[in-house]
Amino acid sequence: MLNALRMSQPPVNPTLNVLVVAASFRQGSLNHRLANRAARACRDYGANVDLATLGDFAVPLYNGDLETAEGIPAGAEELKRRLITSDAFVIASPEYNGSMPGAIKNLIDWVSRFRPQPFDGHHALLVSASPALAGGNRGLWALRVPLEHLGARVYPDMFSLSMAHKAFDGEEIADAGLRSRFENTVQSFLSLAEAARHYPCIKRAWVEFLGEPPGVGEDRVDPPS
Ligand code: FNR
Repeated sequence: MLNALRMSQPPVNPTLNVLVVAASFRQGSLNHRLANRAARACRDYGANVDLATLGDFAVPLYNGDLETAEGIPAGAEELKRRLITSDAFVIASPEYNGSMPGAIKNLIDWVSRFRPQPFDGHHALLVSASPALAGGNRGLWALRVPLEHLGARVYPDMFSLSMAHKAFDGEEIADAGLRSRFENTVQSFLSLAEAARHYPCIKRAWVEFLGEPPGVGEDRVDPPS
């Protein structure tokens, strides 16, 4: 019966589109390396990968007067375009002073000005690399906050590569155990993103404060798409 049902259904689209962003401008960035490794894990899963760095999304510091005079800058438009053509995204971000780098927060702030909300409903995986023992993990907790606020479905597990300046052998994570943990994390994330594409969750709109009485803040509610 189940087989008959399966055969009567149109084939599902097997290819996930995943945007992978390295959130560092630096040549030789450890997070670029981790982003490249994540891209490879996504391709191994069978996904299409769009690999980007912050340099692809150049924006000035957010300024409301600038937005009024000139609109949302092209760099933010470019991230919006690449987000909405993706099913899921991965960010590999450094940690600066126990938080996320200002440049990625500034970019998120610009992109948050679009309606509908481009991050809304997109599945996100956060990873980091740092020479420190915590691997930049505190920065990911900070990065999680605005993304979840904007409606992204941020995967519960986050991967933070500690002592990252010594952790790579060329482009590969040298330690076999860590490597397989990284691959498993990426693959589990993609399985969830794929399942969500075929079985959309009940979320139908982006609401800034879910408990707010309807009607009070209509400007902070995106209608269902
Ligand atoms: C850092 N770094 C850092 N590392 C960390 O684990 N926790 C931290 O709080 C900070 N703080 C910090 C602040 C600033 C301003 C800089 C420039 C750096 C070190 C950082 O992890 C290291 O430079 C990484 O190599 C940066 O990532 P990329 O550019 O290699 O991807």
